[in-house]
Amino acid sequence: MPTLHPLLTKVFQGPLDLNGPVLGRLFYLFEYARSYVEERWEAFDARFGTDTSAPTFERNQKTSVHFYVPTTASVIYEILNSLALQPGKFTFVDMGSGKGRAVLIASEFPFKKVVGIELSEQLHRTAEQNVERFRPASQRCTAFDLRCMDALEYSYGDEPLVLFLFDPFGREILREVIANLEASLRSTPREAFLVYVYPQYEDVLKSSPLLRKMKVGGPKWQPWSQYVVYVASAADRTHELRREEEAIV
Ligand SMILES: C[S@@+](CC[C@H](N)C(=O)[O-])C[C@H]1O[C@@H](n2cnc3c(N)ncnc32)[C@H](O)[C@@H]1O
Repeated sequence: MPTLHPLLTKVFQGPLDLNGPVLGRLFYLFEYARSYVEERWEAFDARFGTDTSAPTFERNQKTSVHFYVPTTASVIYEILNSLALQPGKFTFVDMGSGKGRAVLIASEFPFKKVVGIELSEQLHRTAEQNVERFRPASQRCTAFDLRCMDALEYSYGDEPLVLFLFDPFGREILREVIANLEASLRSTPREAFLVYVYPQYEDVLKSSPLLRKMKVGGPKWQPWSQYVVYVASAADRTHELRREEEAIV
């Protein structure tokens, strides 16, 4: 999805923010209907006996925290099938894992470990129950690590990484999450993919000197299913980005 014009971005950050207190509620109703239709179509929960499809807007939720709604299952499969993953090498980390749908699907791929980081205790508990229930014959990884914590507190290990984000937070938190990732990649250079579904703050990724855009995907007529994949770049582009900034000024 193309990045929004900076002026529009400013407008959407204010009272018209789709995750803010006013439009957030309306957006939530839309997402509720969408998830309902999607579950009828994909039957993810119906097939696996899990509880991932209903969105959840917690009463005490900060406006800057985006509510829970699952990624469309077929989109997660499409993305993970497109990555060249050597079996047993990569760790999958879903930042803002909610009820755990992305974590469950990731366990059908040959990851070394599958990690879910979720702020809400209620969603975290539901994700734990879902992991107990999810036993498809196709499961290839059973090393789950679900943590109820703030994504900002998470410290990356030193393994190759697939970091998955489905619109979990606003620009400021995303910036900090990416800064933490960069610090980890600088101290332990390694292979890393960053998947960002509904990439409304993609500008944060674009300005990272350690990330390079690899792929854009998802159906054009479903903005919530559009995604970008970035890859950790071997070369640090700090100087290149600084030159670009200077040229603009
Ligand atoms: C749109 S949902 C994504 C759900 C899941 N990743 C999936 O694809 O099915 C975003 C989730 O991010 C969580 N979240 C928001 N801010 C967070 C933070 N700072 N740390 C951890 N989780 C957070 C929300 O509670 C919500 O469950």
